[in-house]
Amino acid sequence: MTADPAQKDLSKTAYDHLWMHFTRMSSYENSPVPTIVRGEGTYVWDDKGKKYLDGLAGLFVVQAGHGREELAEAAAKQAKELAFFPVWSYAHPKAVELAERLANYAPGDLNKVFFSTGGGEAVETAWKLAKQYFKLTGKPTKYKVISRAVAYHGTPQGALSITGLPGLKAPFEPLVPGTHKAPNTNIYRAPAFLERDGVVDPEAYGRWCADEIEVAILNEGADTVAAVFVEPVQNAGGCFPPPPGYFQRLREICDRHDVLLVSDEVICAFGRLGTMFGADKFGYQPDMITCAKGMTSGYSPIGATIISDRLAEPFYKGDNTFLHGYTFGGHPVSSAVALANLDIFEREGLNQHVLDNESKFLGTLNKLRDLPIVGDVRGNGYFYGIELVKDKVTKESFNDDEIERVLYGFLSKALFDNGLYCRADDRGDPVIQLAPPLISDQSTFDEIEQILRSTLVDAWAKI
Ligand SMILES: Cc1ncc(COP(=O)(O)O)c(C=O)c1O
Repeated sequence: MTADPAQKDLSKTAYDHLWMHFTRMSSYENSPVPTIVRGEGTYVWDDKGKKYLDGLAGLFVVQAGHGREELAEAAAKQAKELAFFPVWSYAHPKAVELAERLANYAPGDLNKVFFSTGGGEAVETAWKLAKQYFKLTGKPTKYKVISRAVAYHGTPQGALSITGLPGLKAPFEPLVPGTHKAPNTNIYRAPAFLERDGVVDPEAYGRWCADEIEVAILNEGADTVAAVFVEPVQNAGGCFPPPPGYFQRLREICDRHDVLLVSDEVICAFGRLGTMFGADKFGYQPDMITCAKGMTSGYSPIGATIISDRLAEPFYKGDNTFLHGYTFGGHPVSSAVALANLDIFEREGLNQHVLDNESKFLGTLNKLRDLPIVGDVRGNGYFYGIELVKDKVTKESFNDDEIERVLYGFLSKALFDNGLYCRADDRGDPVIQLAPPLISDQSTFDEIEQILRSTLVDAWAKI
């Protein structure tokens, strides 16, 4: 038992009791845990009253911005009417309405919605569904998954197995067997043999990247591979957009080998790229979409796996059952909030706003290329990564000591102290990631650029 938190220093209590996620807890032994208490629009405030620009929309979540009363009211209204009922053999109106709405937004015949409470569960659901689908359709040896190097797909053991970050997986091995990795689409670090006169042709690179997935399928044996999991724009590593033609070729490869194409849109759905789904932005048809985060703009948690009619068909026959579920999947409050959030998308034209402004955002970030530490600026929509390098010409990256000293020891904290909440990430090469709320405009982009500029100049001085 502890005393009333209001009476205490929250950041001290946080260190004592709140086990923060993916956090080196010892770093807070003698320094306060930053504690955010309020949000409004694109800004958040800490417990001392200091204001920060939310350059990451929380965690790629708060699409419609902070402090939206109508989303809070939608939650309260639903909690009063029906706070909880499961979707285990029963329905409730908001889950039905939301499932129909997601099906209408989703491309092609993706018409069946299986709810979860977050992204990792949506990924887990997609893999389990793929496995059972092939068992039901007479191909029981198809169970493996191909995904891409450095990609993050969540923390449940299946999703973590699909994740391409060995350091994140090592403490929990052995994980679920049957996952294999292919190259991602980081053209900035494309293999040298693809260069012609020092330049990599994006289309040739896209063909190569897609073909490497086919190689992985063939190496495993196509009759053992159930699915390929890819993000429209890969987050971990720092926002790798697909080269032109990549997804079209990947679709052909998946069709050729009867392998399901799963579009993991936990970040890229709901306007992050200026479309409801990332698959729309790049014009491909997945067999399943996994999504979560932005569906409610974070006002309540929910995740979903959206499944094609073709895949669902055998599950809708006889005594077949998808033996899978989550108590809080399709929670009434979260479903109501998601519907209200999607109303905001429609009313305020959030997707169009992103499409109208994405090139201005990129253009503003591109100004940073004059700094010696900025190697690359890449991304799409309102989703960008800035790769930091020690040498722009050779693209030499930082060594472990420099990452520890500059990225962890200085940059993350300095950006925050200078009023910008964003992410300095070294899961691949070191990058700063930016994904502000979708209501952001040129003034947001300018503020981001100015804080980044001065902080990166200071960081460079420390190398
Ligand atoms: C592409 C992708 N998949 C899955 C996940 C896991 O989502 P969650 O943290 O909601 O479980 C994430 C989280 O960032 C993600 O980016």
